[in-house]
Amino acid sequence: MRLYDEKILWSFMLLLAGAAGQNTQYLIGSTCAFGGSTVTLPCSFTPSSYFIEGGQKIPLKIVRVVWCKNHLICHGSTPSVYDSNLTTNDPRYEYLGDKQRNCTLQIKSVASSDDATFRFRMEANNSEGHFTNQTGVNVMVVGGTQMRIMSSSGVTEFRSGQSVSLQCRSVCSFYHLEITWMRDGHALSETGPALQLSSLTTKDSGNYTCALKTNIGTQSVPIRLQVEEGPPLDLFLILGAVFGFLLVLIILVLVFILIKRKRAAAAAGHQTELREDMHSNFLPAEDAGQQRTESSQEDGDVSYASVQFRHKKHKRQVEEAADSIIYSSVATKR
Ligand SMILES: *[C@@H]1O[C@H](CO)[C@@H](O)[C@H](O)[C@H]1NC(C)=O
Ligand SMILES: *[C@@H]1O[C@H](CO)[C@@H](O)[C@H](O)[C@H]1NC(C)=O
Ligand SMILES: *[C@@H]1O[C@H](CO)[C@@H](O)[C@H](O)[C@H]1NC(C)=O
Repeated sequence: MRLYDEKILWSFMLLLAGAAGQNTQYLIGSTCAFGGSTVTLPCSFTPSSYFIEGGQKIPLKIVRVVWCKNHLICHGSTPSVYDSNLTTNDPRYEYLGDKQRNCTLQIKSVASSDDATFRFRMEANNSEGHFTNQTGVNVMVVGGTQMRIMSSSGVTEFRSGQSVSLQCRSVCSFYHLEITWMRDGHALSETGPALQLSSLTTKDSGNYTCALKTNIGTQSVPIRLQVEEGPPLDLFLILGAVFGFLLVLIILVLVFILIKRKRAAAAAGHQTELREDMHSNFLPAEDAGQQRTESSQEDGDVSYASVQFRHKKHKRQVEEAADSIIYSSVATKR
């Protein structure tokens, strides 16, 4: 029973081993390197320790390891950068690995021809154990033309007294790499990815480049700085703004005064016009005038009324006389 279990376990392990197979892990997918620098491509592999043939478990042993450039399989006589079978390998490519599990490759004095995809191939004592992982490692080689200098202010023209920070940039990080600076081909004492230039003078004008200290040949594209004599541009801007503001203020005050004067003059002219209006056109004013004439006529009326009153009185006297006549006539009738 126990033997039977062991047998099942054994065949299961065989199956597992066959499924797992051999593999190669490129521990970085891509890297970037400056021309002339050293770059390491970390790599580990797991070879198959055996293969099955005719129900037999045949052990495998790695007999050859190869690194090649821009080839998918690296097999046979494909040109390689490193071949464990050769003694004529280019010393720039150093195999730091072994034939068991470490396949690390180091490239020294990186050249533009190293801008490629590198692949590792293992070959065993039986072709069943040969394997190339086609994923590979991408090496991007950065030369001087890929290095750029950026001005912190985005401009390259300055007035003396101003300051600027120049940044040396590239697609590669400068991680632990020393950067040197040059003006018109002469080395500056400052180092590091940023160059601080404060209180600029005309002497700071020139063509600036940055480079790797380890490889002065890898120089950036130059940037031209122009420093002009005179107060900083900022001061000019501030003065210009102040003058402009004062000018606008003066114009506004003048316009205000002019408008006020014009309004005062217009108001005086309007008053005389109004008076004329009251006399000529204004109907109510005319009515008032007529009323005034009527009231003056009333005086005449009063005298007229009094005349009429007198007349009325006279009339009443006549009526009274008439009444008395009637009365008298009645009296006479009696
Ligand atoms: C091939 O390499 C890639 C990247 O290292 C890895 O993810 C993958 O598992 C590898 N495949 C084999 C079969 O080794
Ligand atoms: C492979 O070897 C190199 C150099 O000896 C070492 O730095 C690296 O850590 C090793 N890698 C692995 C996965 O063992
Ligand atoms: C700086 O570079 C410009 C072109 O960008 C060139 O005309 C000029 O002569 C250079 N100046 C110096 C001092 O090298």
